[in-house]
Amino acid sequence: MKAIRVAQYGQPEGFVFEELPSPVPGKGEVLIEVAGSGVNPVDWKVLSGAMKAFIPLQLPYTPGVEVAGRVAALGEAVTEFSVGDEVFGFIDIVGGYATEVVASVDRLAHRPSRLSALHASGVPAVALTAWQALHEHAHIKAGQRVLIHGAAGGVGSMAVQMARIAGATVIATASKGNHDYLSKLGASQVIDYNLTPFETAVEPVDMVLDLVGGDTQTRSWSVLKPGGVLVSPVSPPDAKQAEAVGATGKHFATRSNSQQLQHIAALFETGELAIDVQVLPLSQAEGALRKSLDRHIRGKLVLDASL
Ligand SMILES: NC(=O)c1ccc[n+]([C@@H]2O[C@H](COP(=O)([O-])OP(=O)(O)OC[C@H]3O[C@@H](n4cnc5c(N)ncnc54)[C@H](OP(=O)(O)O)[C@@H]3O)[C@@H](O)[C@H]2O)c1
Repeated sequence: MKAIRVAQYGQPEGFVFEELPSPVPGKGEVLIEVAGSGVNPVDWKVLSGAMKAFIPLQLPYTPGVEVAGRVAALGEAVTEFSVGDEVFGFIDIVGGYATEVVASVDRLAHRPSRLSALHASGVPAVALTAWQALHEHAHIKAGQRVLIHGAAGGVGSMAVQMARIAGATVIATASKGNHDYLSKLGASQVIDYNLTPFETAVEPVDMVLDLVGGDTQTRSWSVLKPGGVLVSPVSPPDAKQAEAVGATGKHFATRSNSQQLQHIAALFETGELAIDVQVLPLSQAEGALRKSLDRHIRGKLVLDASL
């Protein structure tokens, strides 16, 4: 098998695409022949070394948190999947940029047949993040107003659709070129953050999903209704600012969860959820990470393991 190998923390440079022995699935694991690997901001955050204090890695390592592909072998005691099954999942914090991976079955679900494996490879991390933000942390309800910052990216594209499915009114921030895209996904109002300070254009909301952080997060308190919630997987909201406006702030890290992923797969199967992907060859993972670092990907960037 082949995998992208990174020898040192830093910028996306000096990646090696090298031949390695195939991994062997252990108890409760399967071997997956990878069709595609999703690219996520966490990949360059891990690479930068910023997370090494709490996620120590043995170097060299293979980046990548999610894949889609075909089950090629079963480890001991696996009953959930058979050889030949098409699966996808948020497999771990690293390891996905490879032509073969081993993954625990409790991190996988059957791939919806309506999605190609390449499209599916971009789904797990962003869809689970959006799902957990909206349903576990913000307890979204029909009729609520939700402001989503960074709405045109991977997590945002899922969150706009999931909030719409939950019966909420969605307000999104994005640059002008992404407004039609977001309206089609279900946003009722889209604000060009380059031209209009969102706090001058938004009626009070029940929830802010902050996918940008920094000043965007700080300015969001002013648009929250008392009792509202600001959820951010980017950075912890300030408790004093939350208290000052009678709101709650929540920060979280996404968990892999096969039951939630099965539910998400069902929403793709019925066509209620969709994903836009841009595809690059796995061998060009370095360029893909640089593109992700620019922070203007619409939908999702995925790596084709056959190229
Ligand atoms: N803690 C966790 O477990 C966890 C899990 C998942 C994600 N995250 C974090 O959540 C963030 C979003 O992830 P992602 O995968 O959705 O990222 P992404 O796909 O790279 O997001 C790119 C999008 O951000 C938009 N954007 C950039 N600057 C913006 C601004 N100032 N205002 C509004 N939109 C802006 C861009 O839209 P335009 O081109 O229109 O500007 C682009 O579509 C990242 O920081 C990621 O690390 C954390």
